[in-house]
Amino acid sequence: MNRLLTAKTICITSGKGGVGKTSFAVNLSMSLVAKGHRVLLIDGDLGLANVDLLLGISVQKTIRDVMEGGALMESICFPSENFGVLPATSGIPEMVDLGPEEQGRIGTYLRAVAESFDYVLIDTAAGIGTSVLWFTSIADEVVILLTPDPTSITDAYAMMKVLAQKYGRKTFRLVLNNVTDVREGLGVFNNLRDVAERFLKLDLHFLGAIPHDTDVSQAIREQVPFLKRTPDGEAARAIQVIAEQV
Ligand SMILES: Nc1ncnc2c1ncn2[C@@H]1O[C@H](COP(=O)(O)OP(=O)(O)OP(=O)(O)O)[C@@H](O)[C@H]1O
Ligand SMILES: [Mg+2]
Repeated sequence: MNRLLTAKTICITSGKGGVGKTSFAVNLSMSLVAKGHRVLLIDGDLGLANVDLLLGISVQKTIRDVMEGGALMESICFPSENFGVLPATSGIPEMVDLGPEEQGRIGTYLRAVAESFDYVLIDTAAGIGTSVLWFTSIADEVVILLTPDPTSITDAYAMMKVLAQKYGRKTFRLVLNNVTDVREGLGVFNNLRDVAERFLKLDLHFLGAIPHDTDVSQAIREQVPFLKRTPDGEAARAIQVIAEQV
């Protein structure tokens, strides 16, 4: 696969909504920054942006300004050193589906700004909308988040099937969220890997498991990343293990 951006680009997506993508993307970004990397987190949920909320930051410019030809680094806000965020807009339906022209403009913009970062993380909307599919197409790696719920597993499988058939992507990294323990996460992963390998010839890798942890929902309510609020909590420790794998 051709590399579009110089920074390692990781797209975080899921089939089903509400499985914890944004929370994961925000905290994984912070964990990578804490390790000394320069990270750009893009809110790719173009119609219903959440990244700014979870970080408790107020937004000046968004990806919409980029589409209208906004200046380069000006559109990115920096909640902390080495941590850039390109926010999205909420409640603007025409933002949801990017046409080829908009994709081209965002692609050109990202190529230019990515040089200043080691990692570009993209938090997408749920489902198989055109902008989600496009974001996955520009990424070096696609991380699929899912929970042990059968609906989430089925939707993750469907998402990977679409990405394999439409874009020829065969390798995915999976994160099991909201698990009782790592063993439960591994059990779900192993079953899904076997089916995906057998029927779709996919190559699935286990990136990690995050336990159900009330710190996560509490942190979202307080608009502080859980890595910062409860760095010794179960979810925060799981994210740090995952950041090692990344
Ligand atoms: N590990 C966890 N433990 C407990 N609650 C969690 C965990 N992960 C996520 N949640 C809960 O799930 C909710 C949804 O999380 P989040 O907004 O990150 O999901 P999402 O996949 O980005 O949703 P959307 O598809 O709408 O963008 C959070 O408000 C939080 O309460
Ligand atoms: Mg989200």
